[in-house]
Order: sequence, then structure tokens, then C-alpha cells
Amino acid sequence: MELAELKAKIAEIVQSALQESDSVSDLDLFNRWKARYLGRKSAFRDLFALLGQMSATDKPEAGHALNEARIQLENRAEALESLIKASAKPKAQKEFLDVTLPGRVPQLGRKHPLRQVAEEVIDVLAGMGFDVALGPDIETDYYNFEALNTPPHHPARDMQDTFYLEGGLLLRTQTSAVQIRYMEKHRPPIKIVAPGRVYRCDSDVTHSPMFTQIEGLLVDRRITFGDLKGVLEAFLRQLYTEDTPVRFRPSYFPFTEPSAEVDIGCQICHGSGCRVCSGTGWLEVLGSGMVHPQVLRNVNIDPEEYTGFAFGMGVERLAMLRFGIHDIRIFFENDMRVLEQF
Ligand code: DAH
Repeated sequence: MELAELKAKIAEIVQSALQESDSVSDLDLFNRWKARYLGRKSAFRDLFALLGQMSATDKPEAGHALNEARIQLENRAEALESLIKASAKPKAQKEFLDVTLPGRVPQLGRKHPLRQVAEEVIDVLAGMGFDVALGPDIETDYYNFEALNTPPHHPARDMQDTFYLEGGLLLRTQTSAVQIRYMEKHRPPIKIVAPGRVYRCDSDVTHSPMFTQIEGLLVDRRITFGDLKGVLEAFLRQLYTEDTPVRFRPSYFPFTEPSAEVDIGCQICHGSGCRVCSGTGWLEVLGSGMVHPQVLRNVNIDPEEYTGFAFGMGVERLAMLRFGIHDIRIFFENDMRVLEQF
């Protein structure tokens, strides 16, 4: 046999072996494929037998070509075999269904405790006729302070450590800013509740640099401090219980006059004094007051014709009291083991 003829035969066998190997998909097919091309009775082996008939000059090259082809096919066989073994699982394991396994419970989302409390507050106030109003988290000094009767060097600014941004902007420190934005666009009667995030440079177990407030504002003709007391008392008794004690303490805010802080009887000890109320029997839940005449003038509402009251509360604080939580940070860590308890 001629060397060229042998080489052509080798190439032909290798080509068809590689081509067929593409459709080898299980161990059975693999064994048959291997027997056909590398087995003792394969066409390939027959070529080895022909070697003896080659001339002495052609023999070395012919042997070399045969060996090369054999190595090529053996490599292919090895790769194929490991591929098939890796993808083939034992039959029994593949088809076994353990009907005693507990089902997989899908993880359902739920309302964050802060949202739960905020929605309760808003629901009660909406039931009393308050509309929801919103404002931006990034504010100007004017809306956050100035228009709320808090000029640049007013000592009350110290009560709220402010994050200042570039371009004269700041992160609002209080939802009271929404009062101004709303009154600029609406005329009395005004009755709004404004929930939102606020920011102060402050952080410990009861303070977080970002927290949530809910603001209330009511402006109309002949609104008095009696209305403030009546509405807030009714609101708090609906939020807590019908017989919850409510008291008003004189306080100070630049944008209200007079101002009052509002306490409810401690929900934990019912007045006898405990750790949560620091032994006083009372919990402070609201800031409030009659809208300062200057604030009304700032939005072109005549304080001789209209009066109003405003109030604000911290949602984290309400939620901490409600759920007996002592560290504000757990609201923001989003540990599922904690959140699942609400
Ligand atoms: N903005 C006040 C604060 O963040 C809370 C507050 C007090 C709001 C009295 C009011 C109010 O509307 O009348 O501390």
C-alpha cells in the first residue's frame, strides 16, 4: 500500500469517528463508538495490520501517522467518557421522589413595622378628614427653617443638627417644611397629614440620622387651642385605647405659639412607673401648637382671619413604644429574623 493511500484512509476514519462522536450521548452509545474506532476489531486496527506490507522507507512515517491518529481518538474518547459520566446520575437517584419531605414555604414579604405604625396613624387622621400631602427630602433653608419662623441665628436651630448640602440645600430636619409648601399652594380650610423621612446628624440607641415623621396641619376660621386638644385627644385615643390618659405640657417651637408637648399614659405600666417611661407613668408622643401668626403671614394667609394648629410625631418612637423595642437601629438593619416578628 502507498503511504498517501494509507494517510487518506486514516484521515477518513478519524473524520467519521469525530463526526459520530457528536451524537454519543450515553454510556451505551459511547461503548459502541469506542469499540468501533478503537476496539480490537476496529477498522483502525486493520490499518495497523497493513503496516507490515509497507516498504521499509515508508514504514516509519506510516507508523507515526497511525499513532498520531490513535492518540487523537483516545483523547476524544477520554473527554467524551468523563462528560457522559458527569451528566449521568444513577437512575434510582434521578427518579426518586421523597413524598415525606416538608414543602418549601415561599418567603412572603410583609409590612415593615415602621410602615405599619405610619399607616395606622395616617388611617386614623384620614378618617378625621385629613388629606395626605408630601414634600421633598432635599429642602431649602427657607422651607425647613426660615418660613417656619426660624431665622439663621435662631437658637432653636441647635435643636436640629442639620446635614447641609451644596448649593444652599439641606436634608430636611422636619416634615414641618411640608406645611409651608402646602399652604403656598392651597387656601384654607387646610387639613393635611404629611408623612416622610427626615434627617439629623445624630446617632445613638434612640436616634438615627434618618428617621420618619408625621406632621399634621389644620387651618381654618376660628380654630382654637380647644380644637387642638380635642382633635389630638380623639386621635390618640383612637390610635391607642379609648381610655388612654392624655396630657398637654407647655413647650416651645418657633413655628407655633403657644406650643405644647403631648403625653399619653404609659402603655406598659399604666401609670405606676416603669423603665420605658423612666418611672414617670407618661410617654411623650407629640409636639404641637397653634400655628404662629408669622408663619401664616409668610404664606399670605391673614392671621386675623385664619388660625390653625399643627402637630408632629416621630414614627420610630411610636413604634418603639408600641413594640417594646429599645434600640432604634433594628428598624434599619433589616434582619429577617427580627422583621418576621411583626
Ligand atoms: N417639627 C418638630 C420637630 O421635629 C415637631 C413639631 C412640633 C411639629 C410642633 C409641629 C408642631 O407641627 O406644631 O421636633
